[in-house]
Amino acid sequence: MNTTVNITINGEIYEESVPNRLLLVDFIREVAAQTGTHVGCTYEGVCGACTIQLDGEAVKSCLMLAVQADGHDITTVEGLAKDGELTPLQIAFNEHHALQCGYCTPGILMNMDEFLKKNPDPTEEEIRHGLIGNLCRCTGYAHIVEAVKDAATKLA
Ligand code: FES
Ligand code: FES
Repeated sequence: MNTTVNITINGEIYEESVPNRLLLVDFIREVAAQTGTHVGCTYEGVCGACTIQLDGEAVKSCLMLAVQADGHDITTVEGLAKDGELTPLQIAFNEHHALQCGYCTPGILMNMDEFLKKNPDPTEEEIRHGLIGNLCRCTGYAHIVEAVKDAATKLA
């Protein structure tokens, strides 16, 4: 069975008839062709690679159906930079070498972008706690934490 949904992704409206069982992450990647949102754990909700923002809240898009996002506003990693200008968080990730393979990076950026809006002056412990839902197999997290700290300083 299909349902017609109306979902805004990075400012563009997608009105599509989709299977009721279609996951939001698959809508984002396959219907909207925003492939910066990754699937890292075969839809089990543990890796955080699929994290996007739904009405400004960081959520794992493999744990939602596309029909549940009907009428909502989604931002993916492609929507972070404005007019080609990277955000301070993205710049900090680059400068602090906070990624290696980069598979986890879009999800971490979307989570930490929301985190810094809610907590603009975080302690290292708060940053590490905020990263609990994002797994990275490459970096050991030290550079990621440094990048988030640096971005917080620049956003202050
Ligand atoms: S793909 Fe969604 S949490 Fe891993
Ligand atoms: S940079 Fe490779 S998984 Fe995080």
